This record gives sequence, C-alpha cells and structure tokens, in this order.
Amino acid sequence: MGGGTLSLVLGGLGVLLLYRVLRRLRPGARVQDSVVVITGASSGLGKECARVFHAAGARLVLCGRHAGRLQDVVQELSQASAQSQTQTYTPSTVTFDLAEEESLDRAAEEILQCYGQVDILINNAGISYRGNILDTALSVQRAVMDTNYFGPIALTQALLPSMVRRRSGHIVAISSIQGKIALPYRSAYGASKHATQAYFDCLRAEVERHGVGVTVISPGYIRTNLSLNAVTGDGSKYGVLDKTTAMGRDPRDVAKAVLEAVRRRRKDVLLAGPLPALAVYLRHLCPALFFKVMSLRARKEQRP
Ligand SMILES: NC(=O)c1ccc[n+]([C@@H]2O[C@H](COP(=O)([O-])OP(=O)(O)OC[C@H]3O[C@@H](n4cnc5c(N)ncnc54)[C@H](OP(=O)(O)O)[C@@H]3O)[C@@H](O)[C@H]2O)c1
Repeated sequence: MGGGTLSLVLGGLGVLLLYRVLRRLRPGARVQDSVVVITGASSGLGKECARVFHAAGARLVLCGRHAGRLQDVVQELSQASAQSQTQTYTPSTVTFDLAEEESLDRAAEEILQCYGQVDILINNAGISYRGNILDTALSVQRAVMDTNYFGPIALTQALLPSMVRRRSGHIVAISSIQGKIALPYRSAYGASKHATQAYFDCLRAEVERHGVGVTVISPGYIRTNLSLNAVTGDGSKYGVLDKTTAMGRDPRDVAKAVLEAVRRRRKDVLLAGPLPALAVYLRHLCPALFFKVMSLRARKEQRP
C-alpha cells in the first residue's frame, strides 16, 4: 500500500471515529415522562420492554389482543413501582388485533386519548412461521403479512400525523435479522420482516425533516414463546419451542438495547452474534456463497 493510500485510509478511520464519539456525546432522547406505546406487551420482548421503559419513568400504553394478559402486566409493573427510586406511572392498556385492519383507526384514537399524545411508538407485536413454501397456503402468507407488516404500518400511519404536527416523536420497528437475510422454511416471516425494514427505512428518510426519528432493531434469536406461537403452512399452531429460540438472548437484555437505541436515537441496530452478523455481510458481498450455504441448510433441515 502506497503512502498516499495509507494516509487516506487512516484519515477515513479518524473521521469515522470522531463521528462516533460526537454521536455518543449528543444529548439522548428523554424517556422519563414520555408517552411510550408498546404493541405485543403481553409477553416476551414486549413485556420486557414494558418493564424497562416503566422503570425508566415512561407513561406506558400497553397493547395486545387480550385485556386480561395486559392487566397482569400492569399489576406486575405496579408492584415493581413500590421499590422504584424513579417516578413511575401506572400503565394504560388498549386491546386490539393488528391483523384486523378496520379496528386500527379506532385503536389509534384510543391510544391518543390515553395521554393526548404519543412520544415513542414501539411496533413489537409479531408472529412467526415455520413451513415449506410448497405446502403453504397463500392465506397463511397473507395472515403473517397482516400481523407483522400491514398492521404495524397502519398503526404507524394512524399515529404519525399527530407526531408530525408536534414536530416530535420516535418510531421503533422490532424487525429481525431475518429482515436482512432470508432463511429457508421461514418465507412468510422473512418476507414480512424484509418489508418492515424497507418501509421503516423509507419512513426514516421521509419524516426526519418533521422531527420524527425511526429506529429499526434486528435481533437474532431471543428466548421467548415466538416459535411456540408460530403458524405452519396450513395455519395450525407450530407449538414447538425451537432449540435456537430456547438458547437465544435474554429478552431483558434486548429490551435494554431497545431503550438505549431510543435514547441514542439510533437508526438501525443489528443485535446478533458474530456468525449471523457475518451472514448479513456475506449476503451482500458474496451472494453466491450465501445462497450455497442456505441451500445446504434447506437440504439439512428438510421440512415435510
Ligand atoms: N423471539 C425471537 O427469537 C425473535 C427474534 C427476532 C425478532 N423477534 C421479534 O420480536 C417481536 C416480539 O416477539 P416475541 O419474541 O416477544 O414473541 P411472543 O412472546 O410470541 O410475543 C408476541 C407478542 O405479539 C402479540 N401479538 C401477536 N399477534 C398479534 C396480533 N394479531 N395483534 C396484536 N398483537 C399480537 C402477542 O400478544 P397477544 O397474543 O397477547 O395478543 C404477544 O404479546 C416480534 O416482532 C418478533 O418478530 C423475535
């Protein structure tokens, strides 16, 4: 490498380092007293986000399909409040099904009525899918898209005008590493998360000038009931706790990373180990090798 090239590389690295340091020094977004809406707050990552944001002093609106489950979370959080040093608030709840498009405008209105505004929307709710494309009904592909993609974007679009009017707000999309790379036998899920990544990347660029921030979080496996609740190609419940999910990250750690990403106004966060992270780069830098590995994986896994 010539002297000129070396100086250029070192200069580039220096600028990158300086940018990172300056970004860290920027004042973080305020969570204390902010109104934070969390979908899928009844279990898994959503429930942990509820715990973490509640402890940080946020005014929560917890969403899910089952009022009873949401009330259980409210009760748990209220008990935790007794030991908290921070000022905490009893969460509100709003019950709706993301797959029922016609109910989402009403849900958005109900959410706005809780505190008169939304500061942070965390689009977390989702379902997974396990199946062979050959045996998967189109209705199942649509149903997964409705819950993971059309529902969250409809809710986002219903709440967005109030954020734009106030020139303030933050929207989080809990995507997945499967929004960046596609794995065999996960077509409906991977497609819904790829769509999520694309939509929220577009949204970020479009609403930045209105003072609204967008963060896409792409975790690898998290230890939740996601695979147990997954649907199969005929629409029945998969009902298996996959080994990969059982050995996944602690949802509390992921929830803390979500809080940090909001505070730091991060735009895109990949929460994955070195090997899955390498696969994301491989997909773009050496697609032929990535496709070969996926094809071998598909043969090995062979789903009926
Ligand atoms: N676990 C992982 O390995 C992993 C990895 C990467 C990304 N993620 C993502 O993390 C997010 C949370 O999933 P999780 O792992 O915490 O799974 P989970 O424990 O199964 O939680 C899913 C949540 O979504 C809600 N939900 C499902 N369908 C809904 C619908 N039609 N309308 C409204 N709410 C609905 C559920 O609430 P009710 O059933 O009470 O309505 C539940 O609270 C998902 O977006 C998932 O894709 C998970």
